[in-house]
Amino acid sequence: MNISELKTYEHDVIVVGAGGAGLRAAIECSAQGMNTGLVCKSLLGKAHTVMAEGGMAAALGNVDHRDHWKVHFRDTMRGGKFLNVWRMAELHAKQAPERVRELEEWGAVFDRTKDGLINQRNFGGHRYPRLAHVGDRTGLEMIRTLQDYGIHQGFEVYMEYSALDLLKDGDRIAGLVAMVRDTGEFVVFKAKAVIFATGGAGKAWKVTSNSWEYTGDGYAMAYQAGAELMDLEFTQFHPTGMVWPPSVAGILVTEGVRGEGGILVNSEGIRFMFDNIPQRFASETAPNEEEANRWLAGDKNARRPAELLTRDVVARAILKEVKEGRGSPHGGAFLDIANRREAEYIKRKLPSMYHQFKVLAELDITKQPMEVGPTLHYFMGGIRVNADSQMTNVPGLFACGECSAGMHGANRLGGNSLSDLLVFGKLAGTGATDYCRSLGQAPQVDAQQVTQIIRSATDILNRESGENPYLIHDDLRETMQDKVGIVRTDEDLKQGIDQLEVLKQRYQKVKAEGTSQYNPGWHEALSMRNLLITSEAVAKAALLRTESRGAHTRLDHEGESDQWLQVNVVIKKGADGSMDVQKVPRPQPPQELQQVANAELEDLETAIAAEAKT
Ligand code: FUM
Repeated sequence: MNISELKTYEHDVIVVGAGGAGLRAAIECSAQGMNTGLVCKSLLGKAHTVMAEGGMAAALGNVDHRDHWKVHFRDTMRGGKFLNVWRMAELHAKQAPERVRELEEWGAVFDRTKDGLINQRNFGGHRYPRLAHVGDRTGLEMIRTLQDYGIHQGFEVYMEYSALDLLKDGDRIAGLVAMVRDTGEFVVFKAKAVIFATGGAGKAWKVTSNSWEYTGDGYAMAYQAGAELMDLEFTQFHPTGMVWPPSVAGILVTEGVRGEGGILVNSEGIRFMFDNIPQRFASETAPNEEEANRWLAGDKNARRPAELLTRDVVARAILKEVKEGRGSPHGGAFLDIANRREAEYIKRKLPSMYHQFKVLAELDITKQPMEVGPTLHYFMGGIRVNADSQMTNVPGLFACGECSAGMHGANRLGGNSLSDLLVFGKLAGTGATDYCRSLGQAPQVDAQQVTQIIRSATDILNRESGENPYLIHDDLRETMQDKVGIVRTDEDLKQGIDQLEVLKQRYQKVKAEGTSQYNPGWHEALSMRNLLITSEAVAKAALLRTESRGAHTRLDHEGESDQWLQVNVVIKKGADGSMDVQKVPRPQPPQELQQVANAELEDLETAIAAEAKT
């Protein structure tokens, strides 16, 4: 193949992914004078970011002035079961308020307090009302703002282009090859740096809040290029997805419903979360209905209701009710806000939920409870990065947002993702800019690598016959749902890994009918490689981690283990092409941060108040 005949674009930085993190990274690169291209597989702004509906967490202190970055940091570490990369959690808690205010300056229209400040609501695991929000459409507003602001910043947008694989010059990044989805044409992007903001891989499971784009592309491409993946065993099941009707199972029901006072009830009418309060959160959680009701009525001294425990806890509690025969008719729990708030309040604070249930389930949430159950929502693990620059171990490759690892540890607090996208999108943009400026000679594209990437993609079209990619995908979803689900065992995980091996063999013979133009079967087949690599990494990491921590529950290894707190599970491609899965020691946190994370809340608040006086 003569690669000089291929369309070639040249930029300093290519950002892959146009959700919150990708847009924020591209804005930063442009602002710092980089010639920037933004490549996205879907339409600009059509991203999982919009599925963070309830708000973005930042210690603005607008609704409760006691909030402070240190309390946010502490909540994040405890929610992440202390496995978070300390520096990332620190950067996030410190910088989130500034990023939210910046977004407001760029045009985001937030809900307001009576005093005209950005309003903040309660969410699971957050000590204070902390989520800046726009009804239950916060992610959408964030995307709208970043899009509107971003398109004036001068970066080039390549919509409906699928990135296929990275190009390297020796060890460092030289660009990537992409395919134009409608025409099937291949293009080369030459770049000094590439930033991945490609989101997660929810499409490996049967029940997920993710849409079709989330096929682990960033994880797989980074892995193929020699980057390390970390802690992929931590996959978050959001406790409340729709369970009925089946055609919409998995669609998100925002945690904002519980933040606004919604409660979880089983088929016997029992508010079961009171029976599921873990020791770690006992002193900060209302133990009974009486105190929870005072909280609902606005008593600032009352503790949060148990429905606002962290997502891992709530998801497991719902699963337990279902398994023990106290589930709702369609295999979930009842989420009731109708009996807690006036209809007008519900419609004003949760307009999308009202509409979603009316249209999709013919149910009026101001009158009836919803049926909800866990849905695969988010990856805490991902591409391993440096906390400050977001660079991976591959020079010139950066990652931010959901596709990067570390910020959220073993379990993410709701609302921390939107602020994560802004904080680390900006840092990745700065990191990539600094890297480009430090480069001597620009990297060169190797024609052989381009040819190889294109050949792998076209083989799928050119072979005479073979496996149907949609059937492989269906079987993958069954495997991941059944064997690598909310609760895991050694036996299930081993069976899952064996089944993945069979799927990988079948994938070697995958065949897409038709030509390269307008061919969704081919697109599906290309995504399957990425889903299979990601699924194998998740299953192998889950098998290795013989403890239960956050979103990773091993029925055969109950409880957290101190030994496992000392390590991350790091995965990379071995020299022989096999997947290398290792325990890697974690750096110790600075003492000051450790003290903040471990402090009793009251002591921390006293210390913060004293600090403010001096
Ligand atoms: O429930 C939600 O609104 C989701 C928020 C998030 O994942 O951060």
